[in-house]
Amino acid sequence: MMELYLDTANLAEIREIADWGILSGVTTNPSLLAKAGINVKDFMAEIASLVTGPLSLEVTAEDADTMVEQAKFLKTYGENVVIKLPLTEAGLKACGLLKKAGIPTNLTLVFSANQALLAARAGATYVSPFVGRLNDNGAAGNLLLEEIRAIFDRYQQKTKIIAASIRSPRDVTDAALFGADIATIPYGVMKKMVKHPLTDVGLAQFKADWEKSGLCL
Ligand code: E4P
Repeated sequence: MMELYLDTANLAEIREIADWGILSGVTTNPSLLAKAGINVKDFMAEIASLVTGPLSLEVTAEDADTMVEQAKFLKTYGENVVIKLPLTEAGLKACGLLKKAGIPTNLTLVFSANQALLAARAGATYVSPFVGRLNDNGAAGNLLLEEIRAIFDRYQQKTKIIAASIRSPRDVTDAALFGADIATIPYGVMKKMVKHPLTDVGLAQFKADWEKSGLCL
C-alpha cells in the first residue's frame, strides 16, 4: 500500500497525525522550516520520539562538496535522516557521493521523467515529483507519476517515488492510482482525507437511534 508522509516542519501537526498511527515518515524543506520558525537542531530534538520512519532534511548549499558536508552534518541528527538534494548538476553529483557514503537521498524539485531517470542513475533512494506545482502551471502531475512509474518498473529500478506538492485529497487518490510509493501530504489535506459528509450524517443517525433505544453496550 502507498505510504503516507506528512509534509511539514510543524511539531504540533506531526504530533497530532502521528497519533493516528498511519504515518510512515516526514518531509521538510527550507520553506517549511522557515514557516514553522524552528532551527533544525530544535526540530530534531523534539521529533525523535514522534517519527521513527524516514525524515527528509534538505541541504541549502549549491555546490556538491558543500552539499555533502551539510548532508554529513544533518545525518548526525538521526539514523532515520534522509538528505534532500535539489535536482541540479551539483545535486546529482552529491547524490552519487552520498550513495557511496551509504547516506540515503531524496532528489527534490523533480518536474520531468528525465530528471527522475537522472536521479535514479545517480543512486537516489527517493525522487520527489512535484505534482501540485506542475498542475498549477497547466501541466498534468499525474502523467508525470505514471511515466516515472513505467520507467522504473521497466528497469526494476528500486528508487521510490514520493508524490510531493500535494494540494488536495484527490491528489492523494491520484498518487496511489498512478503508482507513487509514497505521498507526502500537508497537514490540512491529511485532515480533509478523514472527512466525508455521509460519515457525519451516518454517525449522527446511529447516535440518535441508540439514544432513543434505551439499550446499552
Ligand atoms: C516536498 O517534499 C516538498 O516539501 C513539498 O511537497 C513542496 O510542496 P509545495 O509545492 O506545496 O511547496
